[in-house]
Amino acid sequence: MSKKIASARISEKSSQLLQELNNSLPFDKVLYREDIEGSRAHAFMLAEQEIISKEDYALIEKGLVEIYEEIESGQYLLNGDEEDIHMAIEGYLTEKIGDAGKRLHTARSRNDQVALDFRLFVQRNTQAIADLLLQNIRTLTKVASKNTATLLPGMTHLQHAQPINFGYHMMAYASMFKRDYERFTSSYERNNYSPIGCAALAGTPHAINRKTTAEKLGFKAPTLNCLDTVSDRDFALEILFNISTMMMHMSRLSEELILWSASEFKFVKLSDKHATGSSIMPQKKNPDIPELLRGKTGRVNGNLVSLLTVMKGLPLAYNKDMQEDKEGVFDSVKTALLSLEVLNEMIDEMTVNVDEMNKACMIGHLSATDLADYLVKEVGIPFRDAYHITGNVVNVAEEKGLDISELIFEDLQAVDDRIGKDVVALLDNRASMNARQSEGGTSTIRTEEQIDALVTWLKEQQ
Ligand code: ARG
Repeated sequence: MSKKIASARISEKSSQLLQELNNSLPFDKVLYREDIEGSRAHAFMLAEQEIISKEDYALIEKGLVEIYEEIESGQYLLNGDEEDIHMAIEGYLTEKIGDAGKRLHTARSRNDQVALDFRLFVQRNTQAIADLLLQNIRTLTKVASKNTATLLPGMTHLQHAQPINFGYHMMAYASMFKRDYERFTSSYERNNYSPIGCAALAGTPHAINRKTTAEKLGFKAPTLNCLDTVSDRDFALEILFNISTMMMHMSRLSEELILWSASEFKFVKLSDKHATGSSIMPQKKNPDIPELLRGKTGRVNGNLVSLLTVMKGLPLAYNKDMQEDKEGVFDSVKTALLSLEVLNEMIDEMTVNVDEMNKACMIGHLSATDLADYLVKEVGIPFRDAYHITGNVVNVAEEKGLDISELIFEDLQAVDDRIGKDVVALLDNRASMNARQSEGGTSTIRTEEQIDALVTWLKEQQ
């Protein structure tokens, strides 16, 4: 007797536990829109191919639209104990329209259904992220065009290196985001093929038309091989990789904003909206927003590695492990969309501290390379010798407590009498920045050229 009660209790408990592990509805319910869209296209095709009757199709179509509206209005909450979004909607449809609902799953399986829903979700969000990238590129280009004459110490190893302009620095990030945009759009094209109609793994004996569903759902064509299609999550890995790379760029920019807003730099001031106070130190303003963008990059990287790891040992075709593909993608997509919106606003609203950047250019003998280049170009001295002469000039400047750009002609002559009077003007930081007129270089003219090229490119992206 007691054994029976105990085992009854255990089986009750384990079935609940099992449901908790097995069910994906709590998280895949966000795919309701894609699921309904996919089912409507599938039902349309089944009717056109005379696999289901026109009457049944009409009922299915009406029922699915109704369910969509009920979900949108919050009337149907999708919080039942069905296994996943596919079972929930099909079950509810059948509850609403009776036997016709049971015909919807003809010539399909949840394997191609989930491959379709998830791919539609990824494609849709790929476009949304790409749009936000364009917005960020526009903003960076706008800030750049206002700052092509704003001097900034260019760095390597986080040490002052050569004078550049702030616009040029912003255009470096615009260039990264352009590559990101291209990565998202090329992934979109590569994955724009319809999985539906692949059924469980081998196709179906029903006379379906996969071209009809592909076209109705906005895909270029049906996928080639059904066994691959139901096993494939490359599209999900691609969006995860594309987000990781994009966030890595955003994180580097965030890192610079954090540094630049520190009192040691003061190159930029973030708007109060993008900084927060400390709970104990009343004087503080912390760059929490760029710090969060930098931190979130770690999480999206984790999502990429998770899915790569889930997929690596799976035999063909569908395995339940693949249900683990979604949460990371949902999380990375949400993070990417929010982060891009915030970054755009932060860049747009930050104050560029032109004077502080200019002042910082007087630290570190930024124009020293210009002297070496002069000695090579105008005097014909081999570069390695010119490098040593310049080193001596830097030592003189150090001894005098000056920047190399502040030395007078006599100081220079004392080091090497081959140094002409014209060098003094060359060592000015602005002159140094503007001397870099090679293609892709920092001079104001070349920076403006880069801005023009990107503005033209932006116009070409519809
Ligand atoms: N909830 C499942 C998933 O997300 C749907 C596919 C289930 N297919 C199956 N044969 N059990 O992957």
